Amino acid sequence: MSVAHDSQGNPNDLGPFWMPFTPNRSFKEAPRIVSKAEGMYYYTTDGRKILDAAAGLWCCNAGHGHPAIVKAIQAQAAEMDFTPSFQFSHPKAFEAAARIAALAPGDLDHVFFANSGSEAADTALKIAIAYHRYNGEGSRTRLIGRVNGYHGVGFGGISVGGMSGNRKLYGPLLSGTDHLPGTYNRTEQAFTKGEPTWGAHLADELEELVKLHDASTIAAVIVEPMAGSGGVVPPPQGYLQRLREICDRHGILLIFDEVICGFGRLGAAFGAERYGVVPDLLTFAKGVTSGTVPMGGVIARKHVHDVVEGEGQDRAPHEMRLYHGYTYSAHPLACAAAIAAMNVYRDEGLFERTKKIEPLFADAVMSLKDKTPVDDIRTVGLAAAFDVRPLKDAPGKGGYDVMAHLFHDLDMMIRLSGDTVVLSPPLVTSEDEIGIMVDKMAKAINHVAG
Ligand SMILES: Cc1ncc(COP(=O)(O)O)c(C=O)c1O
Repeated sequence: MSVAHDSQGNPNDLGPFWMPFTPNRSFKEAPRIVSKAEGMYYYTTDGRKILDAAAGLWCCNAGHGHPAIVKAIQAQAAEMDFTPSFQFSHPKAFEAAARIAALAPGDLDHVFFANSGSEAADTALKIAIAYHRYNGEGSRTRLIGRVNGYHGVGFGGISVGGMSGNRKLYGPLLSGTDHLPGTYNRTEQAFTKGEPTWGAHLADELEELVKLHDASTIAAVIVEPMAGSGGVVPPPQGYLQRLREICDRHGILLIFDEVICGFGRLGAAFGAERYGVVPDLLTFAKGVTSGTVPMGGVIARKHVHDVVEGEGQDRAPHEMRLYHGYTYSAHPLACAAAIAAMNVYRDEGLFERTKKIEPLFADAVMSLKDKTPVDDIRTVGLAAAFDVRPLKDAPGKGGYDVMAHLFHDLDMMIRLSGDTVVLSPPLVTSEDEIGIMVDKMAKAINHVAG
């Protein structure tokens, strides 16, 4: 049997791990492996210190290895490893749910736990369809997503998702879906800080879909308030309000997928709060535990929960209403981590701080407009995307090369989506680190452009 690691802790055999969303062959030729993390930094096995400008993968909002979160997870692992959530539970599940619901606006009062953003999205879609069925409108099964939207990788999520690469390999997907147009328009919006003024009218396309399909067939519309994976696309001013109004007019549920927007990224607990729009269902994941233990979930408004659970109706005590859930829903380690992370967010005022430093961050990233070959920069909250001018005949290579150069030569981790490279640092980032991030990004883009 081969030895698993060399003396520095580097794995000897990179073959067996089939990596997700990664060109496996090129990764394994020049791996990017980190083995330790603290605060704003990762460390490689040979001791290089890597600035984390991506919060891992939009998750580690409290920074890495926060002592309060580590302690809570360790204590929970020692106290109780696992409890089923089907028919049984444990105290921290209720505490975590109450804390999450308290952060959400309006009567988003009930929390259904899953383990990832993908599961959260599929859960929300299923709850929406079940809601209409229990409400006596079983014909409402159609699900509307948006072009360029990302809702994870389950069949529900990719069916309403709008990124062709994630869909094209997988056949016909769910039947009965449709898509709103994306809200990005470079001519009208390029180099806008925050929400663009142009584009609210695109919400009216929902009226066209209602004309086409009839409201009686439509269950829900799902959108990310800010499209994160699609390249940091903030909603046009007034767009989400308009979607809300149209949904209300036609009895359609509105779902906000806040897997990225939630837990402070936009300078508020949720995008729903920033934009003053309360959806019927809201998904979360990632930042809920600051990325420490997998957790996702759906927050439902009271009317949705009450219809699905048959509140106020006579029911046999053993009658179950929502046939859905995961073995690891409300896992004790995840609940302990979520409560600890929410304590950190509150005690360190991280959402408010994000709101405060947003203008400084926006100015810093926009300064690259004239210093680098980029076709657009978008920024909102503590997130920014740079559209690197594509290399001739090699779409996607420029973004990939920027990411690789940053890691291998400039000691920084970022996220990319095609030729778009993204900064989304932990919310604990210092102002100095923001300056360093932007400088490194400029160097890398210029290096790749030659
Ligand atoms: C808006 C949104 N929904 C769903 C997901 C999927 O989350 P996960 O990768 O945890 O399944 C993501 C991941 O980035 C996301 O951004």
